[in-house]
This record gives sequence, structure tokens and C-alpha cells, in this order.
Amino acid sequence: MAASQRCACPAGGAGGQRASRSADAGAVLARVFDVAGRIVLVTGGASGLGLAIARVLAECGARVIIADRDETRLADAARSLPEVERAVLDVADPAAVDALVDSVVDRYERLDVAFANAGIAAGRGPGDAAGLLDTFDLALWQQVLSVNLNGVVHTVRAAARPMKFQRGGSIVVTASTAGLRQDPYVSYSYVVAKAGVVNLVRQAALDLARWQVRVNAIAPGPFRTNLGGDGPRRPEAEARWATAVPLGRMGDPAEIRGLALLLASPASSFMTGAVYPVDGGQLLQSPPLGPIG
Ligand SMILES: NC(=O)c1ccc[n+]([C@@H]2O[C@H](COP(=O)([O-])OP(=O)(O)OC[C@H]3O[C@@H](n4cnc5c(N)ncnc54)[C@H](O)[C@@H]3O)[C@@H](O)[C@H]2O)c1
Repeated sequence: MAASQRCACPAGGAGGQRASRSADAGAVLARVFDVAGRIVLVTGGASGLGLAIARVLAECGARVIIADRDETRLADAARSLPEVERAVLDVADPAAVDALVDSVVDRYERLDVAFANAGIAAGRGPGDAAGLLDTFDLALWQQVLSVNLNGVVHTVRAAARPMKFQRGGSIVVTASTAGLRQDPYVSYSYVVAKAGVVNLVRQAALDLARWQVRVNAIAPGPFRTNLGGDGPRRPEAEARWATAVPLGRMGDPAEIRGLALLLASPASSFMTGAVYPVDGGQLLQSPPLGPIG
């Protein structure tokens, strides 16, 4: 199927608005955002933002491999997105990440795009289960860092190897607005890990630019996903973010698609080392005074 015939990529879809657009406009969009045939790895791809990223890229013709440690979610994803390949992976295990990337490169002889997206949350705020002061829990601290920081490091390292060899590629890290400033609703470990990956992205972008490998970060604000095991629409979260986000609500995972497609496609060919918020304007406001301690 030609990219211009698919529904979720910018050139695709029918609908009244699209019908009135010239065929040339569709062709231009299809070319600018062309990801057809690209080999794309998405960690944490069985749920939430990763699943939305995998879906839009598959819809636009990329060959997508989702890697996740949760086998039940992988099986669910297989039902809703059968064209996508699946792999069980714990990103905290560097040998497993290397082995997966090697197997992808063995089969396809390249890796074009890697989304280092897998992440976990712990605690409801800095003073909660993953606090730093009275409640400090070293095991929990290490658990969050092992996935949200080390897991990203392992993924960036593994993806960079074939991309350097092939002289090109795009690595996209899912950071967070919580990595750009303080956040009363997440743990110390979470903000520290996310701040770490933001600067990892800048450093890696500088390092890998000579091989035309681009490295960028997405910084989501509050989205309706399974993060923290709360289920997608926890009522108090909806109420909180209705006032703390200028657009007045949480994001739906599908609202990550545009930026994901941009960063995976030739449309971003001169973009590297940057962090792009998708946050309904959250960063425009001071953080709410939440339940600290
Ligand atoms: N939802 C939000 O509000 C929000 C905000 C900012 C940043 N983020 C970030 O977005 C990313 C995606 O999270 P989400 O919101 O879609 O949550 P989610 O829980 O819906 O999806 C995360 C996926 O990552 C997988 N995962 C967790 N640990 C893993 C590991 N060690 N190895 C492999 N897979 C692992 C989970 O099984 C899950 O399928 C995370 O990095 C998260 O920190 C989310």
C-alpha cells in the first residue's frame, strides 16, 4: 500500500478536508514524512506512548519491532497491531538489548530508528515511596534508575553501533517534563533519571553527529497511559491536570504520533540534540504545589 493511502500518516486518510486537498499536496507530505520500509525499534512498545508510536509508524509503512518486558501486554498489542513484530526484552539488561539489536540487524541489515521509550514510575511524589529523605529506599531508587536511565543508555549504545556503520539513523528518547524541572507528583528517582537522559541525548547527539546519527528527546507532559500501574484514566490525575495544564486536560497517547513520525522521518533531517515537549503547555506554568512529603 502506498504511503499516501494510509490513514494515520500526514498524507493518508480520506475525509472531507483531505478530499479537497490536491493530489500534489498528498505526495509532498508522503515524501517529507516518508518512513516506508524503515526498520524501527520501540522499547516499551506494548503500552501507552510506545504503542501509539509503533502504531503510527507501522501505519505509515515502517517495519516496526516492539520490545517490552511485559508478555501479557505484548500479546494484547499483537491482537491490536498484528503487523508489528514483538520481542520480550528487559532494557535494564545490557546484554539482552545488544542481542535484540543484533538480531534485528542480522535480519534486516540495518536499524534506522530506535525509540528508547521504556520507563517506570515509583511513588506519587518526592516524599512518597521513592523519597530521598526519611523514606529513602535504595532498592526502589536503583530499580527506577536501572530502567529509566540505564535502560536508555543501553538502548542508545546498542542502536548507535549499526547506525554509525550505516552512516545514519535517528534515536529518540522518551524523557519527561519532569526531567526539565521539579515535579511534585513524581519521585526523586524519576526526575533524576529523566534529567539524566535529557543530557545523555545532548551528549550523544554531539558525539554521533559525525556519522549522521541524530539523537533527540520527546518530553511528554501528563498522558493517559498505564504508567505507575494506575490505569489510563485515574480520576484524581484527570482533575489535577485539568487545572495544571493550559490546554485543560491530560494527553491521549495518539497525540504523540505527530512528533514521533517527524523524528523518525526525513522531515527532521537537520534536527539533533533537542528536547521537544508535548505537554499541553504544562511547562508554561509554574509546577503546582503538590503533595510534597
Ligand atoms: N504517561 C505519562 O504521563 C508520561 C509523562 C512523561 C514521560 N513518560 C514516559 O513515557 C514512557 C512510556 O511510558 P507510558 O506513559 O507509555 O507508560 P506505560 O506503562 O503505558 O508503558 C510503558 C511500557 O514500558 C514497559 N517497560 C517497563 N519497564 C521495562 C523494561 N525494564 N524493559 C522493557 N519494557 C519495560 C512496560 O511494560 C510498558 O509496556 C516512559 O519512559 C515514561 O517515563 C510518560
